[in-house]
Amino acid sequence: TYIVNDNCIKCKHTDCVEVCPVDCFYEGENMLVIHPDECIDCGVCEPECPVEAIKPDTEPGLEKWLEINTKYAEIWPNITIKKDAPADAAEYDGMEGKFEKFFS
Ligand code: SF4
Ligand code: F3S
Repeated sequence: TYIVNDNCIKCKHTDCVEVCPVDCFYEGENMLVIHPDECIDCGVCEPECPVEAIKPDTEPGLEKWLEINTKYAEIWPNITIKKDAPADAAEYDGMEGKFEKFFS
């Protein structure tokens, strides 16, 4: 599966949702997650994210993010239509500690 990691937080460009063939993105207030059981591993979303927040879960160190995607995809609503990114999205690209400060 692919997962969304912390760099989505407060960037939330949503380009990813438009390309997913199985509509498996779910929306929190500050970030999106992928439902790992619904993702078919096509990989088309990965290059769509302007801040490189989408990764295959085979990359090392992403266990925490697999858990977060799994948990919140069951709770948050599905999103399939792109919306405007936050006006200050660029300020948060690459910022450290976004999970502790802004995860929601
Ligand atoms: Fe959707 Fe494919 Fe991305 Fe999985 S890898 S979330 S199926 S676009
Ligand atoms: Fe987040 Fe990137 Fe999608 S910032 S909403 S994973 S395009």
